[in-house]
Amino acid sequence: MTGLASPRQMNSTDQAVPPSVINAIRDVVGAANVRTGEDAGAIDLGSNGADCSAGIVVAPLSTAEVAAVVRICRQNEIPIVPQGGRTGLVGGSVSRPGEIVLSMMRMNRIERLDPLERVAVVGAGVTLEALQTAALEHRLEPGIDLAARGSATIGGMVSTNAGGVMAFRNGVMRHRVLGLEAVLADGSVYSDLTRVVKNSAGYDLKHLFIGAEGTLGIVTRVAVKLDPSPRATATALFGLPSVEAALRTIRLALESDAGHLRAAEAMWTSYFGLAAAAHEWSEPSVPLDQPLFLLLSLGGAHENALREDFERIYLETVQQYPEATGIIADSRRQEDELWRLREDTSVLYRAHPQAPSFDVSVPLSEIPAYLDRILPRLAAVEPGLAPYVFGHLADGNLHIILNRKGPLAPDVAEAVERVLYQQLREIGGSFSAEHGVGSKRIHSLLTTADPTKLDAMERVKRALDEQSIMNPDKVLPRDAWFVRSSRPPLSGNGHRLSLNNASDLNDE
Ligand code: LAC
Ligand code: ZN
Repeated sequence: MTGLASPRQMNSTDQAVPPSVINAIRDVVGAANVRTGEDAGAIDLGSNGADCSAGIVVAPLSTAEVAAVVRICRQNEIPIVPQGGRTGLVGGSVSRPGEIVLSMMRMNRIERLDPLERVAVVGAGVTLEALQTAALEHRLEPGIDLAARGSATIGGMVSTNAGGVMAFRNGVMRHRVLGLEAVLADGSVYSDLTRVVKNSAGYDLKHLFIGAEGTLGIVTRVAVKLDPSPRATATALFGLPSVEAALRTIRLALESDAGHLRAAEAMWTSYFGLAAAAHEWSEPSVPLDQPLFLLLSLGGAHENALREDFERIYLETVQQYPEATGIIADSRRQEDELWRLREDTSVLYRAHPQAPSFDVSVPLSEIPAYLDRILPRLAAVEPGLAPYVFGHLADGNLHIILNRKGPLAPDVAEAVERVLYQQLREIGGSFSAEHGVGSKRIHSLLTTADPTKLDAMERVKRALDEQSIMNPDKVLPRDAWFVRSSRPPLSGNGHRLSLNNASDLNDE
């Protein structure tokens, strides 16, 4: 098998999209919905300034329009970069001259929300927050939540298989999607807006598009499962001596009979200290010198009962770990303040602009050994190199941000990656928990994944997108080399990608 198709050389401006193609697209979506030049650059670039480098942003209103645009692009071999909220973290929606950006922002209609069925059918451009707000009117929720709720779109979350704070309980996006519709590279529409949980009618192909980051098709509409939202919530913060103590506390919270555990977010001491200082947060009963801070949220029928349950959890924790501390939020304002400490990760990037960032999954029982392993090894890569760690402890998803201004020198970046990713697959974890692969993690995927998986991925890509016009050079590189030989080592003289590996490792 040879590399994926490379229809056009995209990196030079002499390969701009021909005016005739732009005009044909204008005819489909309306001239006002095709932005070019400065107009395209004026779009909010979200988390990546290169998102609109294509210089052409097309905003269709319907699946039929998406399909028509795809057909025009296919005829002219123009690559398409689909975009949702543009706040993804691994460069999955960066674009280049010669490509077009397909923004789903106008496909933002909640088409159906049936409170008895507990299913919503939404356009790909609906934000998570918009769906949460609409669902809440019926005391329902999408069962998935993350800090970027205001910008993240359902289509983008499907495409990255987003996770967030409730994944330990409700699964990730893949488990919230009952059906979807997607436009394929040939302009045909894969229509599977099933609204039932059970569907064993052949291959469940929707899963191909979930987590594919737009490389196999463009997700246009989604049927999302909803759950009842609790009448009351309560939040508590514990200061704890160890990961083991935190996991035991989570276990106690999972056994709540006043309600259910909705979130269990961990912040290691260096992250927490930075966040507390940035938000001028202090609380005498929770000193800042503890190794680990655990933010817990319970949902149930009665706030008081939930708070009382937190007292039980605290007392049982203190019996085992006398040094444990804690505070139970007694107002919505306090609850919000505690959550801001966890969710406002911009404090890190203010301290370390473009800090290199990683998003790993580690089986719970392996987390203490993993951290014990990486901390000294990172310091051995460079004196003083240390991670800020926080994340979704109940599912083992750790966010690791280095105390460096990015980008790292290529050799340092490679050494860091070796430290963080070594053995992850062997111990049952993953180098990319919830942010995807995008353009930044391709190197990591190629160097850590099972060769048979990579080969199968390439065959699927080839089958669905022979010309490689669907978000090319995301997830898989077009100039695929990995099928030709066995995997190269993480360092040494292995094959190199044409992508800049150093930048792959930074800016997440
Ligand atoms: C979070 C993002 C970084 O959990 O995934 O805040
Ligand atoms: Zn996260």
